Amino acid sequence: MSQTKVFAHRGFSGIAPENTMAAFEKALEAQADGIELDVHLSRDGELIVMHDEKVDRTTNGSGWIKDLTLAELKQLDNGSWFGKDYENETVPTLAEVLELVGDSDLAVNIELKNTIIPYPGLEQKVIREVERFQMQDRVILSSFRHDSLQLVKKICPAMQVGALYACGMVDPWVYAGYLGVDAIHPHYLAATEEIVAGCHRHGIRVRPYTVNEEEDMKCLISAGADAIITNYPDRLRRLLPGDGK
Ligand code: G3P
Ligand code: MG
Repeated sequence: MSQTKVFAHRGFSGIAPENTMAAFEKALEAQADGIELDVHLSRDGELIVMHDEKVDRTTNGSGWIKDLTLAELKQLDNGSWFGKDYENETVPTLAEVLELVGDSDLAVNIELKNTIIPYPGLEQKVIREVERFQMQDRVILSSFRHDSLQLVKKICPAMQVGALYACGMVDPWVYAGYLGVDAIHPHYLAATEEIVAGCHRHGIRVRPYTVNEEEDMKCLISAGADAIITNYPDRLRRLLPGDGK
């Protein structure tokens, strides 16, 4: 069994504004093994990195990403809500993030944010972008929309995909096998030792989210989680044995 990997949720979002270049840079500095980020489609069909469907919470703008063009989104201050030091953060595109981590060996967990807005064509566009950067071997696509993951597998069978879900599923490896996904990404309270063991017996990886307390991290490390998605990659790294990676 390999060591639990450290995935920085929305970048190192404990110390920098989520889903910004600053947060991804800080994840790299903190020796994370991977980053998690969320993608949407703008009005002009660009791949936009942000958590919410609307820009209101994390920028000085308002409205839905789907109704704004990339040029309009790029005008927004995406960092001041978190702290004055981040007033120059803009809304990143997926290409900008892939470019940033291209020279590293960081894994990239791209969450397709297509539960509220369906974003037709999102899967195809993300796959094309990942292929353009030749990062298929270290990208994992995830979504709470599991039909979207099946579509990803249809378009690109080699792409690693993980099914996100929030609560107590019985024998999730059976469902994962039915879906044809490579991993489950459960809420951490749904990731017990038995579930991790059952998944591993069936070749399914387990990457729980979003784990910020040390006690919970320790339980999941001991349960054998393949990766833990956290806002505090530094905290998780300190709990793992070895020289960092
Ligand atoms: O991918 C794990 C986690 O990010 C899922 O929930 O709402 O933080 O995107 P959310
Ligand atoms: Mg996410």
